[in-house]
Amino acid sequence: MSTAWIIASGKGGVGKSTITACLGAAMSREGRRVCIVDADIGLRDQDALLGLENRIVFDLLDVAGGSCRLDQALVMPDGEHRLTLLPASQFARAKELSPKDFRRILLELKERFDVVLIDCPAGIERSLRGLMNDAVDETILICTPDDICIRNAERTCGVMEKKGLPRPQVIVNRLSPELIRAGEMYTAATVAATLDIHLLGEIPEDAAVYRAALQHLSPMDVDCEARRALTRIAWRMLDEDVDAPLPGYGTEKLPWYRRIFQPALKEVKRIDR
Ligand SMILES: Nc1ncnc2c1ncn2[C@@H]1O[C@H](COP(=O)(O)OP(=O)(O)O)[C@@H](O)[C@H]1O
Ligand SMILES: [Mg+2]
Repeated sequence: MSTAWIIASGKGGVGKSTITACLGAAMSREGRRVCIVDADIGLRDQDALLGLENRIVFDLLDVAGGSCRLDQALVMPDGEHRLTLLPASQFARAKELSPKDFRRILLELKERFDVVLIDCPAGIERSLRGLMNDAVDETILICTPDDICIRNAERTCGVMEKKGLPRPQVIVNRLSPELIRAGEMYTAATVAATLDIHLLGEIPEDAAVYRAALQHLSPMDVDCEARRALTRIAWRMLDEDVDAPLPGYGTEKLPWYRRIFQPALKEVKRIDR
């Protein structure tokens, strides 16, 4: 049975595309046939994240408009045997994709793949609403631990509910254990409780994500905490019978020597204007 996941957020720049690409890689390495659909039309990112910039010939809109077959538009990153991308169009507008065509393509993808991950545009506009249909099985909201992102996520939750989609689960991204320990940042559990939705996963702020990108690598190909966090989330999404409890970044009990030698956080002082 195939599962189609919508990966959305209220706010842009919270890590949707990065997380989608990494979860796709993690699940394909677990033996699943995975298709990532880049549905952020006009702002495509997945081709770059998966190292496929020079390999795109056709895209989602070409398939929707009938100018190519679905398999002509699908591309596979080198070295990944079960991961496929259906790229977004770079110079088109989201309104050019009809909800009916998208649903038809999604159903076709679900026949060929075990998992379909849909990287969505941010916000609650028509471009997102047009991707929501009864072929979508699960929904995820990506949220950073701040009030503005939580407020936007709440609104996206409302839109999903109105569209009759399953209640979303949340992945909290860019957590800083140091700030949480100092009581200056929400924990992942607090964000989930505020949104009143299930906490699917948590990912720390990790410079390795940026440094991997500089070297045109996926965070899944470097040894870093973000990779461990994303692998854990992929297992939870696949319902694998593995022990994948969340670490609770910033709430872990530290050994005594780490507690004593915690670097003090730099104070934020208001300047006189
Ligand atoms: N956990 C993280 N740690 C560090 N940087 C991150 C993390 N998650 C995302 N980023 C960075 O944040 C930026 C925005 O991510 P992106 O996936 O493009 O967001 P979105 O698709 O929601 O707009 C990228 O530069 C990405 O590398
Ligand atoms: Mg994106």
